[in-house]
Amino acid sequence: MRTVYLNGQLLAEDQASISVFDRGFLLGDGIYEVIPSYAGVLFRLTEHLGRLQNNLNAVQLANPLTDQEWSLLLKDLLARNGGGDQSLYLQVTRGVAVRDHAFPDNVKPTVFVMSHPSGRINPETLTEGVKAVCLADNRWLNCHLKTISLLPNVLLRQQAVEQGAVEAILIRDGYATEGAASNVFVVKQGSIMTPPKGPYLLPGITRDLILELAAKHQLPHEEKALSQAVVEDADEIWLTSSTKEVLPVTQLDGRPVGDGKPGPVWRKMHRHYADYKASLR
Ligand code: PDD
Repeated sequence: MRTVYLNGQLLAEDQASISVFDRGFLLGDGIYEVIPSYAGVLFRLTEHLGRLQNNLNAVQLANPLTDQEWSLLLKDLLARNGGGDQSLYLQVTRGVAVRDHAFPDNVKPTVFVMSHPSGRINPETLTEGVKAVCLADNRWLNCHLKTISLLPNVLLRQQAVEQGAVEAILIRDGYATEGAASNVFVVKQGSIMTPPKGPYLLPGITRDLILELAAKHQLPHEEKALSQAVVEDADEIWLTSSTKEVLPVTQLDGRPVGDGKPGPVWRKMHRHYADYKASLR
């Protein structure tokens, strides 16, 4: 039985429960993070906690813990659940109150953390790549916030799955923003490109690392608006996230991307990413 953290307590997962009046449950009023661990080491913890703080500020929620408290808690939970390669999920909601859209007074946030073993990325995915489809980005204008109100993303990802794809690449006003649960990169003539940060996409921690690795290894790269035509004409397309790492898309809307195999620039980046992870171990 795994251990979870809920409001100051470490509990067996089947013992943890929240009030039906929790604003996370009733209104989707909360913020979350997903943090991978490799060999028991939390990946880019400072960056994840920084993003958490920015998100809490943006929705006017006080951070219930200091960074040091978060760090101790996450490491403790990870160790109790066997360490190794896991994915930690943490969520802060505005707490329990009579249902009303406006913020309640004097309410304590609900804090929940769980961890589970990270699904190994299927080796076939890395040799064959994955399918994606382009869908209209019909989300709100605060996509830079990692809120638990994920219904639009859920519906978009489900639409992709029903079309036999693993991810939707979202198009707003003719330009790619991100995936339903990932960031998007394209490669054209050796140059790695990804849309710039802004209200239309989540500032992915993995995205930042990919740009850092590109700079470190002198791979040409640029943050640049990507029209749907550029995406459709790309030599390579990648998806990045804490759980997907860096995944090659080899089919877009039923057509091969480049030669239909994971490309040479992806192979280089995948190796640099693996080396970076190994350096943590
Ligand atoms: N999602 N964009 C969206 C909409 C996302 O949901 C995610 C990640 C990302 C990539 O962010 P990062 O590299 O920091 O994981 C981009 C997580 C993994 C999830 O919801 O499970």
